[in-house]
Amino acid sequence: MAHVSVNNARKDYGAFKAIKGVSVDIGDGEFVVLVGPSGCGKSTLLRMIAGLEGITSGQIQIGKHIVNELAPKDRDIAMVFQNYALYPHMTVAKNMGFSLRLKRMPRTEIDQRVGNAAKILGLESLLERYPKQLSGGQRQRVAMGRAIVRDPAVFLFDEPLSNLDAKLRVQMRSEIKELHQRLQTTTIYVTHDQIEAMTMADKIVVMKDGLIEQSGSPLELYDRPNNLFVAGFIGSPAMNFISGNMTEDGFRTADGLLLPSERRPPEAVTYGIRPEHLRLDPGGIEVTTVVVEPTGSETLLIARLGTQTLTCVFRDRIRAAPGEVLRIAPIHDAVHLFAGDEQRITSGEAPLN
Ligand SMILES: Nc1ncnc2c1ncn2[C@@H]1O[C@H](COP(=O)(O)OP(=O)(O)OP(=O)(O)O)[C@@H](O)[C@H]1O
Ligand SMILES: [Mg+2]
Repeated sequence: MAHVSVNNARKDYGAFKAIKGVSVDIGDGEFVVLVGPSGCGKSTLLRMIAGLEGITSGQIQIGKHIVNELAPKDRDIAMVFQNYALYPHMTVAKNMGFSLRLKRMPRTEIDQRVGNAAKILGLESLLERYPKQLSGGQRQRVAMGRAIVRDPAVFLFDEPLSNLDAKLRVQMRSEIKELHQRLQTTTIYVTHDQIEAMTMADKIVVMKDGLIEQSGSPLELYDRPNNLFVAGFIGSPAMNFISGNMTEDGFRTADGLLLPSERRPPEAVTYGIRPEHLRLDPGGIEVTTVVVEPTGSETLLIARLGTQTLTCVFRDRIRAAPGEVLRIAPIHDAVHLFAGDEQRITSGEAPLN
């Protein structure tokens, strides 16, 4: 096991700056998720850590060693990719043991490690099958098995679940998490799926345009996003953003509607409220129903607040016809205000419930 430190790392592809100075510390045994929109540099950063991509400047340390100049095979890492091509002509057992055979490890030890990994992953009965005889989830597990047998100091995952259907993703998500709890191997996991990030990570690193926007525990990012980008990226359905101004009376939407908030000096701000922090309230503000979507466990309401659109999630079942007027109110402590520079300016903390 090992900690990983990335210190002011940069990656230029010609004139294009893919990674613009990134520093992140990943503790020994920690499960860190790199998340961000397509093209923000997640895979590039992971590949730099793996040694599959040279770094333009900065330093990468794995355990005690600065690895900038080390070849991938000497970094004591194992990587699982989105397209984890298995060798079609090899059985599951052979696929899993292949890297060890390349290292000329004795046969008995290879068998032992493959057997062990197969047990962990529930692949014992499939060891003699070929990849084409496996389901997508089973293939995925074989790809993880190939990484596990190497017993690396660090696992690197690049969107390993994105080829699986929704149900299997959820199942594999918890399997990977459980695997981590069992092996306690330092893990860096890339995804653009914020739910995967929220549910799996000890620490989330949110990236955008080659930079880190914020890093912290899932609930830290959820409750105290630094800026509009993180606030909008983390959480599903996404936080509502209402544009308007702080006035003498409080926050007024662009349509002049008054919403409860803390008092601040006059300036243009964005008012942020998560869908689950809005309540039906007879004394609340009027919104016009656009659509009501019952999911069984909760009810999603899309409504118009003046000319702006609000998404609300209620625990209760409600009925409302399109055009019907409802009254809603935000939970006061859960209101976020963002200044013109998109930084969060309220100290308020959303309740953890
Ligand atoms: N070999 C390359 N040459 C030039 N530009 C590259 C190269 N590899 C990546 N890029 C660019 O670097 C940026 C970051 O790419 P990267 O693959 O790291 O994104 P990502 O965050 O993993 O996105 P995705 O979620 O789509 O996988 C992109 O704009 C991409 O076009
Ligand atoms: Mg990628």
